[in-house]
Amino acid sequence: MPNKYLEGKGALITGAASGFGKGVAFALAERGANLVLVDLNAEKLEETSNEIEKKSGKQVSSIICDVSDSKCVKKMADQAFEEIGNVYILFNNAGLATSYGVDILKLGEKAWDRTIDVNLKGQWLVDKFVCRKMNRQSFEPLKGKVIHTTSGYGITLSPFVPAYSISKAGVIALNKLLAKKLAPNITSNAIAPGYHLTGIYGYREDIMLQSMKDGHVQTPLNRIGTIEDVVKLVLFLTSSKSDFITGHCFPIDGGIAEVGVPSHRLEMNI
Ligand SMILES: NC(=O)c1ccc[n+]([C@@H]2O[C@H](COP(=O)([O-])OP(=O)(O)OC[C@H]3O[C@@H](n4cnc5c(N)ncnc54)[C@H](O)[C@@H]3O)[C@@H](O)[C@H]2O)c1
Repeated sequence: MPNKYLEGKGALITGAASGFGKGVAFALAERGANLVLVDLNAEKLEETSNEIEKKSGKQVSSIICDVSDSKCVKKMADQAFEEIGNVYILFNNAGLATSYGVDILKLGEKAWDRTIDVNLKGQWLVDKFVCRKMNRQSFEPLKGKVIHTTSGYGITLSPFVPAYSISKAGVIALNKLLAKKLAPNITSNAIAPGYHLTGIYGYREDIMLQSMKDGHVQTPLNRIGTIEDVVKLVLFLTSSKSDFITGHCFPIDGGIAEVGVPSHRLEMNI
């Protein structure tokens, strides 16, 4: 039986209907957290909430919200605190990828706007409306913990997904500034996954492997990532074992970012 170190504490997870958000939601429910699950996809969100309620026996709140819409995010944050009383863990994770393979100088404005709006502005809006309330909580020694999902592409920018890479680099910067602002009451860290089979690839391994091939990516640990790999890192960041860590970005990618071959090799025609 997992240690219930989050008993009495609330966890708000964005992008909770699928992939990492869903995996983390299950794991935090098992550790005793009261959950608010947030996503744009109403059908999948309901499915996930029902599955977690059935498995954990806990009541799960679910809120349909587009994280890029400030009115919706403000309402969502108010509702979350009303429903579960506190938010000790914020897993700021919702994100999407658009326009794979489109050159940075040919990318359409709509695709740019949607990617930046959801991936970067969306995480900032969620931080803005949740962390002000989190900072008024009386938990000790920390009032709360924030975990942002960035990407290996935010560390080593990929020409195949320019707007996505820039949005995720922005999340790394957002995380650092937030850590400064919220210290010493709240920690803020980021995770940077590599290649893991989730909804962002339509759960299609062939599509994910093709994007690795396009980027000449080689993974030192020689396998693709799983949702469980990410869940384990997030659990560490939600636990007291990480209480002295803030402002950092943790690659979880089988070694690609530091000692592998990331997606930045130049194709030269000269
Ligand atoms: N899968 C990977 O290999 C990988 C690698 C690096 C980073 N990431 C990041 O991980 C995070 C989670 O993605 P995932 O891989 O689990 O994919 P996923 O598609 O399975 O999950 C993302 C969830 O976010 C939701 N979402 C999208 N836009 C939203 C919006 N505007 N408002 C609210 N919810 C929204 C989707 O409906 C979906 O349920 C994303 O930020 C993604 O960029 C994924």
